Amino acid sequence: MLCFRLQTFALSIFQLCLLLIVASNGQQLQFGFYSQSCPIAEMTVRLTVQQAVQADRAVAAQLLRLSFHDCFVEGCDGSILLNTQDGERQAPGNAGLAGFNVIETAKSRLESLCPGVVSCADILALAARDAVALSNGPDYAVPTGRRDGRFSSRTLANNLPDVNEPIEVLTSKFRAKGMSIKDFVLLSAGGHTIGTTACFFMPKRLYNFTGRSDSDPALNQQFLPQLKSVCPPGGNVDHRLALDWSSAFIFDDHILRNILNGFAVLASDARLMDDRRARRVMESYVGGGQTASFGADFAEAMVRMGNIGVKTGSQGEIRQICSQVN
Ligand code: HEM
Ligand SMILES: *[C@@H]1O[C@H](CO)[C@@H](O)[C@H](O)[C@H]1NC(C)=O
Repeated sequence: MLCFRLQTFALSIFQLCLLLIVASNGQQLQFGFYSQSCPIAEMTVRLTVQQAVQADRAVAAQLLRLSFHDCFVEGCDGSILLNTQDGERQAPGNAGLAGFNVIETAKSRLESLCPGVVSCADILALAARDAVALSNGPDYAVPTGRRDGRFSSRTLANNLPDVNEPIEVLTSKFRAKGMSIKDFVLLSAGGHTIGTTACFFMPKRLYNFTGRSDSDPALNQQFLPQLKSVCPPGGNVDHRLALDWSSAFIFDDHILRNILNGFAVLASDARLMDDRRARRVMESYVGGGQTASFGADFAEAMVRMGNIGVKTGSQGEIRQICSQVN
């Protein structure tokens, strides 16, 4: 009996060593990374996001977009949160990003509860999950243990997917981050089931698609005049319109039906129709007799996106303020 106990003890020491080796090599995130060091971490983020979304429901989409823009430049390391002169935030592709103050509020609460423990990168990944859950989307477990990067560069952010790029360029940008075509469809369409765009991103698609004063032929012919009247030529570029037409605040599969029927608002969403595999992925969620669940698969894709280029173990740092390196 004693021997057995010693054996299990030795085994757990062994497991502990393994865990430490993995952690210090900086490879893997884990579920509940803060369950010992800051058990209230996830709850604090959830509560902060909930309060912010209650005050202004546009915040949910802002947080989701923020996490995508974090992960696609320098990995999910909170670099998008750094407010520096030549940092990512200044890149044109990051125009309109918002929600930074929500992350900063959660961070300052956590700094008083468990100083120096919870990274800004993790707060952002958790906040994106909470934003989706609060929009009637899936509520999923987010592996944590990300460390904060110390570097943010405007030029690196120039490589973000652009709304007017052709499908081949968009898919290759996602592939370069280890995301499959299915992930690309799930993340793009899933991301755009909530939120809005500024008219700023619309003119090419509506008024000069191929440079001959034409519009995107993928647009439904009844929908085109509607979009044109919302974003008239020379109109207010800051005016905002729903990405998922008539379903802007609820996470649902409506966006897929919209894209398949020519009601995509963003050009990059419409481009999903230009790839047969992408189209099949979309149809698998809304076609007759489908069994796949858009919400559950989106959640899995979010977890994969949340793993891109993460810093763990002794890499990076735990920032005290999310907008500044220590
Ligand atoms: C091909 C890839 C993508 C392109 C070109 C793209 C482009 C855009 C553009 C131009 C906007 C409007 C921004 C504004 O005016 O504020 C937008 C909004 C948004 N995007 Fe994407 N996006 C892409 C993928 C994603 C992904 C992967 C996600 C998250 C999983 C995402 C989440 C969002 C959200 C939630 C909004 C609404 C933001 C708000 O309401 O403030 N996008 N996207
Ligand atoms: C339309 O696009 C063409 C080619 O990209 C460009 O030369 C022209 O200036 C554009 N017209 C307007 C009104 O923006």
